[in-house]
Amino acid sequence: MAPSQDLHDRPYVILNAAMTIDGKIATKTGDSKISSRKDLVRVHRLRASVDAIMVGINTVLIDDPSLKVKYCKGKSPIRVIVDSKARTPIESRVLLDKDVPTIIAVTSKTPRDRVDRLREAGAKVIVCGDGDKVDLIILLKVLKEMGVKKVLVEGGGNINWGMISQGLFDELQVTIGSFVVGGRDGITLVEGDGMEKMAEGVRMKLSKVKQKEDEVVLMYKASR
Ligand SMILES: NC(=O)c1ccc[n+]([C@@H]2O[C@H](COP(=O)([O-])OP(=O)(O)OC[C@H]3O[C@@H](n4cnc5c(N)ncnc54)[C@H](OP(=O)(O)O)[C@@H]3O)[C@@H](O)[C@H]2O)c1
Repeated sequence: MAPSQDLHDRPYVILNAAMTIDGKIATKTGDSKISSRKDLVRVHRLRASVDAIMVGINTVLIDDPSLKVKYCKGKSPIRVIVDSKARTPIESRVLLDKDVPTIIAVTSKTPRDRVDRLREAGAKVIVCGDGDKVDLIILLKVLKEMGVKKVLVEGGGNINWGMISQGLFDELQVTIGSFVVGGRDGITLVEGDGMEKMAEGVRMKLSKVKQKEDEVVLMYKASR
């Protein structure tokens, strides 16, 4: 699938993830520590090069990440949480830490009291569509209107599906760490309903390969 939406309507989108040799980005218990220190430096340089960093709510609930730039010098981008039920905990690091703005994307169906609670905790809440899930096309359009030119999406697998299945990305950077963990309940790089036929699969162009000892980083561009 070619990237959808003209870049006039959305920011440039980079998806980044670290996965095991068998395609998992987290084990069945949610452990996702796959990247080496060197790879973390690469990821944090990437963070410092974008205007916004986006993750799904499950990643916040499981990892409680700060989503800030830590392993290199540079400015932390604004944080965007895709959270249609407004489940972001008030005590999560993305809300407790006020150094960088946090945007929480919800829908018009999200309970009002939960939205108010997030606003009181300092989040900027934006309503993206009237469905059960956040409308990612609307979210990207709003971010673009706010002046965001480049977004880094750091998973998890369900957000990756939402972005990839709608052609809402321009680059994919995947680190393959030298682990095999198996398990049907581990999270894969891309979750969701999946395609029925290989021919429907999203095609990408391999643009670069980096290897350091047993770790490989594959960089792809979306086919246009
Ligand atoms: N290795 C890595 O690089 C890496 C990176 C990030 C995360 N992870 C791991 O991935 C796991 C979490 O991944 P996950 O797939 O379970 O969750 P996720 O992608 O972090 O979050 C998915 C959730 O986002 C919400 N959402 C709202 N609108 C959506 C939309 N349009 N499309 C998709 N999702 C939407 C849904 O919850 P609501 O319905 O409640 O809104 C959905 O269940 C964690 O274990 C984390 O450690 C690994």
